[in-house]
Amino acid sequence: MKCERILVEYGAQPYAGLDTYFLDNYEEIDADRKRPVILICPGGGYRMTSDREAEAVAVKYVSMGYHACVLRYSVKPEIFPRALCEVAWCVNYLRSHADEYAIDRNRIFVLGFSAGGHLAASLGAFWQEKWLGELLGVNKEEIRPDGMILCYPVISSKQYGHIESFENLLGKNDTEEMRAYLSLEDHVTEDFPPTFMWHTYEDDAVPVENSLLMAGALRKAGVSLELHIFPHGPHGLSLAKEETRCAATGGGIQKHCQSWPDLTDGWIREMKENDCKEEKKGIIFDLDGVIVSTDKFHYQAWKKIADKMGIEFNEKINERLRGVSRMESLEIILEKYEGAPLSAEQKQALAEEKNGYYVDLLKTMDRCDVSEEVVNTLKSLRRKGYFLAVGSSSKNAKIILRQTRIEDLFDAVSDGNNITRSKPDPEVFLKAAEYIELLPKQCAVVEDARAGIDAAKAAGMMAVGIGTATEYDKCDRKIKSFGELDQIF
Ligand code: BG6
Ligand code: MG
Repeated sequence: MKCERILVEYGAQPYAGLDTYFLDNYEEIDADRKRPVILICPGGGYRMTSDREAEAVAVKYVSMGYHACVLRYSVKPEIFPRALCEVAWCVNYLRSHADEYAIDRNRIFVLGFSAGGHLAASLGAFWQEKWLGELLGVNKEEIRPDGMILCYPVISSKQYGHIESFENLLGKNDTEEMRAYLSLEDHVTEDFPPTFMWHTYEDDAVPVENSLLMAGALRKAGVSLELHIFPHGPHGLSLAKEETRCAATGGGIQKHCQSWPDLTDGWIREMKENDCKEEKKGIIFDLDGVIVSTDKFHYQAWKKIADKMGIEFNEKINERLRGVSRMESLEIILEKYEGAPLSAEQKQALAEEKNGYYVDLLKTMDRCDVSEEVVNTLKSLRRKGYFLAVGSSSKNAKIILRQTRIEDLFDAVSDGNNITRSKPDPEVFLKAAEYIELLPKQCAVVEDARAGIDAAKAAGMMAVGIGTATEYDKCDRKIKSFGELDQIF
């Protein structure tokens, strides 16, 4: 297990600390296992971070096969939004170091107790806000938590509010407006992550109404929720067992409440199954730049045309051609053309000439031009029961599939020959869904082009970005390598 303290390099020193409990992988078990991670925010009224809600909880999750870490976030006299920025920093850190620690980058859960629950839920409410991404200098997708575990959370600053938490959190900025902004039941949107929440009915420090108000807000926004209200037990139970007993009061043991970590385990497992496996039944793949690296051939072929015509053409301009039809690609290239205007026939001739060069390059392709990773992942997805389709703007898609001998891995092909409008129009993906007889919402798209991500969203499909598309914040999910699809689906 990798246990270390990582400094949360946000704000002025002293930096907050992230204590990790990351499990190792073993050849004898599964060398490539990726685990969800639970990022724990202890409670303490924004005055301290309680030891009772820290290591013991991490160890509990580790024993269930999760990676865990504890964030010792900044508290009074530090004020909002520092702690929130620290937890957002951690989510980004965990996601960007997912490969190094064998973390499943799409299953980063934030767990918070009491005021730590308020902190976690603040990230749930505000992760997509522009100001937060800007403060951290990252894309909002990188700080998106995949789920929330809120344990007897502080939520409201109103009638049922735990006032000390808000006083400590706001310090000199403790105004009515700020309290209203941080009364989280009023800031829940459909972007709030799926949530697991528990509370005790008898809690007299942070009344159960906090969870009830949150539950109502989640329901209204259509956010998935699992809520448990245990009848007995005081505030601050943590694991509710001997391990986290409170030295000062001798209390904190409540047998019936001890089941909550196991309940979260079931919730996380079920979520993964429902998330993609049941809802999504089809996966539509862009071809150029996703399945095969023909993008370099497009470049070489266009370069010949551009050089011949004395037109400036470089990798940067080439990026704009991703996913764009042949004729539209030519128009982009001609933006730099300084000669006399070309007739439609001349343009047609240029596009055909380019295609001739391109098709010649395609002839050099064979099975080796599709990586083992791609082939194995496609096979695995098929074994899991997904229908797989190609959704490409190219009129040469079928030639490529034949040449590389991967036609049999797909159930349908929608390409430049069956559409009238190119990406970002959704037509190519809608046709693909039709061919595999699924509704758009049952399909996900894997794309390397911005135009393709826009097309997927316009089609009402989940958009998974790979390659250059990962710089685009419209992606629902981002993957660094094709094999990660096996974890998402
Ligand atoms: C897309 C490529 O897949 O197909 C574009 O990303 C290309 O760059 C388009 O222009 C059309 O391809 P083709 O093979 O029909 O010229
Ligand atoms: Mg592409």
